Amino acid sequence: MAVAAAIRRAGNPGRSGHVLSLRSARDLFAGRERLAELFGARESSRFVFTGNATIALNQAIKGILRPGDHVVTTSVEHNSTMRPLRRMESAGVSVSVVQAGRDGVVDSKEVVAAMRSETRLVAVVHASNVSGALQPVDEIVRAARGRGVFTLLDAAQTAGAVPVDRSSLPVDLLAAPGHKGLLGPQGTGFLYVRRGVPLVPLIEGGTGSRSEDDHQPDFYPDALESGTQNSVGIAGLAVSLAWLLRRGVEKIRRKETEIMGDLLDGIAKIPRVAVFGPRDPDRSVSVLSFVVEGMDPAETGRRLERQFGIMVRAGLHCSPNSHRTIGTFPEGTVRISPGPFTGGKQVARFLSALRTISSSRD
Ligand SMILES: Cc1ncc(COP(=O)(O)O)c(C=O)c1O
Repeated sequence: MAVAAAIRRAGNPGRSGHVLSLRSARDLFAGRERLAELFGARESSRFVFTGNATIALNQAIKGILRPGDHVVTTSVEHNSTMRPLRRMESAGVSVSVVQAGRDGVVDSKEVVAAMRSETRLVAVVHASNVSGALQPVDEIVRAARGRGVFTLLDAAQTAGAVPVDRSSLPVDLLAAPGHKGLLGPQGTGFLYVRRGVPLVPLIEGGTGSRSEDDHQPDFYPDALESGTQNSVGIAGLAVSLAWLLRRGVEKIRRKETEIMGDLLDGIAKIPRVAVFGPRDPDRSVSVLSFVVEGMDPAETGRRLERQFGIMVRAGLHCSPNSHRTIGTFPEGTVRISPGPFTGGKQVARFLSALRTISSSRD
C-alpha cells in the first residue's frame, strides 16, 4: 500500500523544491532515521540506500580494498561477498578463506589467527543463508578492532530478525537487503558505513547536492548515493521499518526461535530426512536446510509446491562454499525459512507434507 501510494506521488528526492520531490525526500529521510534507530547508530546519514545487499557488499569490498591488501573471510559466505573478493584478487588483493565446521559455524580463533599485518578487512556473514548458523561475530569484530582491521558484516539473514546494535557490535560496514527480515520491497537495501571508514564510491554522478562541482561530494549519504533513488521502494521499506520498531526485533527473534524449535523437533521424527546446520534454534536464524535421502532437493521442492502449495528454495542458494562446508555440494539442500508471520498451523502443514513426501519416495 505504501509503495502504491508512493508511486502515485513520486517526485525525484532531493532534486527539486516542489511538493512531490519533498515528499519523496521525506520518505528517504524517514527510512534512514528508522534504520539508524533499529541498528542503534547515532548518525542516520551513514546509512546509504542501495538496490539490494549485493550492491552494498560490492560497494564495501571494492570501495575499501587496495592492491597489496589482505582480506579474511569464511567458507560460508554468499557469492555476493565471494565473487567481489575473487575479482579483487586480480587487482592485487590476497584473500584467506577460513574453513567453517560441518555445522556451518566458523571458529573465531581461526579467523583471528588468519589476520596478518597487511589485513585490511574481515568480511563475515552474520548468519548463513544455507545452514542458518549464527557466526561468532562479537569475538571477530572485537579482535579485528583491536588490530585496526576493518570489519564488514553481511547481515542479509539477520537484519530485522536478530537484534543488531552498533553499540554492542561496533562493525565498520554492515550490508543488508530491504526485502528479507526488514520486510520491505525488492529493489531496496543499504550499506552502513561508520564515520571515518574511507570508502571510494563505486558509482559517481548526480546527487542533487553541490551540482556546481564536477567532483563527487564527500559527505554522506551523497558520497555513495548517486542517481535517482528507488524512492517508492524505500517508502515501503520505511513503513515496514516502523512496524519492526513497534514490534521489536527481540520479540520477533523469540517467536522465530520458538517456531524453529518446533520445526527441528518435528523434522527429527520424520524418517529419511537429514537436517544440516547447528540444530539448535539459539545458535541459528530461522533458516533450515534439509534433504530427503535418495531424492534430489529440486524434486522435493517441486513436490512441496505441486502437491501442497508450499514454496521453498532448493539447490545451492548462491552459496556453493556453504554447501561444500556442510557436505551437500553439488546437489544442495531444500531450505525453508519461517518468518514473523509463520504460525503453528503452517509448521504442522509443512511437517505433514514432508512426512508424505519422504514416505512416498521411490
Ligand atoms: C547471506 C546473504 N548475503 C547476501 C545476499 C544477497 O542479497 P540480495 O539478493 O539482496 O542482493 C543474500 C541473499 O540471498 C544472502 O542470503
